[in-house]
Amino acid sequence: MKRWEYKGRWALVTGASTGIGEAFARSLAARGMHLVLTARREDRLRALTDELTVAHGIRTHVIPLDLAEPGAPEEIWRQAADGREIHLLVNNAGFGFQGAFHELPRDREVSVVQVNITAVLELAHLALQGMRARGEGGILNVASVAAFQPLPTLATYAASKAFVLYFSEALWEENRRAGVRVVALCPGRTPTGFQERAGTGIVDRSTPGFKLPAEVAEAGLRALEKGRSYVIPGAVNYVNSFSGVLLPRQLLMRMLGKLIRRFV
Ligand SMILES: NC(=O)c1ccc[n+]([C@@H]2O[C@H](COP(=O)([O-])OP(=O)(O)OC[C@H]3O[C@@H](n4cnc5c(N)ncnc54)[C@H](OP(=O)(O)O)[C@@H]3O)[C@@H](O)[C@H]2O)c1
Repeated sequence: MKRWEYKGRWALVTGASTGIGEAFARSLAARGMHLVLTARREDRLRALTDELTVAHGIRTHVIPLDLAEPGAPEEIWRQAADGREIHLLVNNAGFGFQGAFHELPRDREVSVVQVNITAVLELAHLALQGMRARGEGGILNVASVAAFQPLPTLATYAASKAFVLYFSEALWEENRRAGVRVVALCPGRTPTGFQERAGTGIVDRSTPGFKLPAEVAEAGLRALEKGRSYVIPGAVNYVNSFSGVLLPRQLLMRMLGKLIRRFV
């Protein structure tokens, strides 16, 4: 396996305006990567690129678009790849909403599928064309520990992250001999804007498996460098992700339902 190179190459990071995506932008800029950043909040993206350009002397480009809009992933790729070879795609944008599925607004649940699944699929497909032709490149898809089992009250979100994990692992195998790396990053609970939007509880240092966004992004980049197919940052999150595999599935759902009802 060739050494993974960052310096002077271009990365496209989705959901870069805050949280784990912003941490990716900072980590990649510190390694000398030029950045195309996308999210809806243009002001935040511009403030971040201004700062990173001065701090690291990198080149940047901002694409303010809503990934839930049909055609947005294609438009983002068209703008990002215009005159640039994208060496690394970080499919990070994502969100979910907590609650009983039948009570959640249907359009919001559909937007979870559009951003967490459809956009990831479309951008990966577009990116792979050039990466495979060049015989190098990487795709880092942000999944979650929620990918390892269904989650009552986060049904759509957990199912969307299971898609990201399975999809990424299959693409890892399909593309590794072509020189293209694919990683699923599966964070546990990380303090970001996610919790407020999702309506899930506060995350602090007392939360089991707690990691900062910067630690999560670093774990993802280390996995990419090593050519891993997935990574779960933190030993507690790793053990928890596999703790249910031997249980009968209905028993696991009943136990998770009970546990979640206690906290929600
Ligand atoms: N935080 C956690 O505990 C945790 C755990 C496991 C996995 N994850 C995953 O980590 C990833 C990053 O989330 P985060 O925790 O960093 O949350 P966050 O702070 O809320 O960041 C989410 C990012 O996605 C962007 N985004 C949201 N909706 C979008 C849309 N419709 N179109 C374009 N961009 C959109 C947001 O930017 P704008 O609002 O400016 O558009 C923001 O930059 C997600 O895939 C999430 O599922 C998070």
